[in-house]
Amino acid sequence: MTSIRSILTGVGGYLPRRCVSNDELAARLETSDAWIRERTGIGQRYLADESETAAFMGTQAAQAALAYAGATAADVDGIIVGTSTPDQVFPATALRIQAALGVTGGFGFDMAAACSGFIYALSVADAMIRAGQARGILVIGSEVYSRILDWTDRGTCVLFGDGAGAVFLQAGEGSGTSARGILSTHIHAQGSLGDILYVDAAVGQSNRPGTLKMNGKEVFRHAVTKLADAVDECLKHNGLLQKDVDWLVPHQANKRIIDAMGKKLGLPPERVVVTVDRHANTSAASVPLALAEACADGRIKPGDLVLMEALGGGLTWGSALVRM
Ligand code: COA
Repeated sequence: MTSIRSILTGVGGYLPRRCVSNDELAARLETSDAWIRERTGIGQRYLADESETAAFMGTQAAQAALAYAGATAADVDGIIVGTSTPDQVFPATALRIQAALGVTGGFGFDMAAACSGFIYALSVADAMIRAGQARGILVIGSEVYSRILDWTDRGTCVLFGDGAGAVFLQAGEGSGTSARGILSTHIHAQGSLGDILYVDAAVGQSNRPGTLKMNGKEVFRHAVTKLADAVDECLKHNGLLQKDVDWLVPHQANKRIIDAMGKKLGLPPERVVVTVDRHANTSAASVPLALAEACADGRIKPGDLVLMEALGGGLTWGSALVRM
């Protein structure tokens, strides 16, 4: 039976103008290019200037996604932004982007699920489209983690970068795993693990902005097991096998975690999209940025089956399977 499906018709990304190498960080911090590369696979990151806010970067990525889809502001019924670094407490970043795009109707809101923010937003957008509540939704991940990092903590500040990625979802029809569209999304959370990755200040409770704190070893351990389970859940739900997946577009936190997931899927390295070496961890922006890059350079083609996954503070984690 044919049913409504969310078709991914556009992708786009934006990276800040300023690129910062590991060596540049090593000049002011007790670290080295060799340590950062060996432990994380990161070689550089892009850092936002004052004008490059989550709303600004999200707008650029959204415009690129709409252009890719051949769509205009009039096709947008809603905007959902995964971000933990909004420009303001409110209005939502989604609404700043709505105004900047010239979208005059529909809805918009932000989702705070840290590095899983894009997968969470995609899951909600897909459910809304399938329920008939909207026909065109921009799903954006946009982050400026540089504003919430402790730049004296070498254990965290070397790991992150800024940027934005977006996709445009449009209602279509289809059935089965070979038809275009989102085949499934799965989202999870475990609040009892909130203290292994968090920002240490709450709105109104401190006169300084919070900074990110992380127990790296614990996050690493949970990432490997929970993302492996998420991959299994996704394949089982769709009655598919590892070999059916054409591309893995993983969250870009650490090359060692990415390699473990590629191995888990039995995918050769050239079928795993990697941007962590150049972008570092851009949190909710990392998956759509990686997807946009691999679509723009022609690696991911229409008809390919793409598995996306992410894990972040909360803990939150999830997956999405899309036939492009
Ligand atoms: N440069 C040099 N040395 C550093 C360093 C840096 N940037 N950061 C930490 N170190 C040091 C530590 O101080 C420690 O020194 P010690 O042994 O003298 O105490 C040593 O390196 C090992 O630190 P450790 O934290 O045990 O390293 P690790 O192998 O666990 O790697 C991470 C650290 C952060 C790279 C790794 O734990 C990781 O990637 N975790 C997951 C992070 C993640 O994915 N976060 C985002 C999720 S959305």
